[in-house]
Amino acid sequence: MKRSEINTIMRDADAFMKSQRFYLPPFAYWTPADWSTKGTEVSEIVERALGWDITDFGQGDYRKIGLFIFTIRNGTLDALRAGRGKMYCEKILVVDVDQVTPMHFHWIKVEDIINRGGGELVIQMYNSTPDDGLDSSDVLVSLDGVRRVLPAGDAVSLAPGESITLPSRLYHKFWGKRSRVLVGEVSLVNDDKTDNRFYEPVARFPRIEEDEPPLYLLVNDYGRYYPLLKFPRL
Ligand SMILES: [Fe+2]
Repeated sequence: MKRSEINTIMRDADAFMKSQRFYLPPFAYWTPADWSTKGTEVSEIVERALGWDITDFGQGDYRKIGLFIFTIRNGTLDALRAGRGKMYCEKILVVDVDQVTPMHFHWIKVEDIINRGGGELVIQMYNSTPDDGLDSSDVLVSLDGVRRVLPAGDAVSLAPGESITLPSRLYHKFWGKRSRVLVGEVSLVNDDKTDNRFYEPVARFPRIEEDEPPLYLLVNDYGRYYPLLKFPRL
């Protein structure tokens, strides 16, 4: 993706979130110059990959296959393994009409996906087979505390206010319907390095062509702008 496209998506999503009365934390608006002055006090943001995360899944057509994510809070796998501490994560997503997040599951993460406003969110699901394929068995899910059984590959459509719990190893793919959707995600700890399994191979993060300076940093930019990552202490 071009950096100019990412900057445009940031401005656009920020305006949409504000129009839905959803506000990001202060670090969302730190500039690259601000980042270059930060010290160890912000290591939680860097180490847990909090912040802007915009991806075309390496497919080169964000409007068709892409997702806007802002990670607001996140715990650690160590906490999760220990069963104490910050074991949870919260994200806000912006999903456009017919903009697909490809079929995937999480090995560990259980996530609630919440329609927080705008259009509808359509989620298609399959159980996974022991060898990580798509199973033909019925899918059992919980929608706002109400159990439902769906045939394999069926989709549910969430209206504003509605949510679904996606257990680990349940394949899911989603897109927006009618108009742009503001989507919340409340989950166990998020670890993009180890916990995602895409049914068809895609890249989790985009390759970026730097045609203008970043408006705000993506989580994958921290290494280049945060001095303590650029010059790790021995
Ligand atoms: Fe997911």
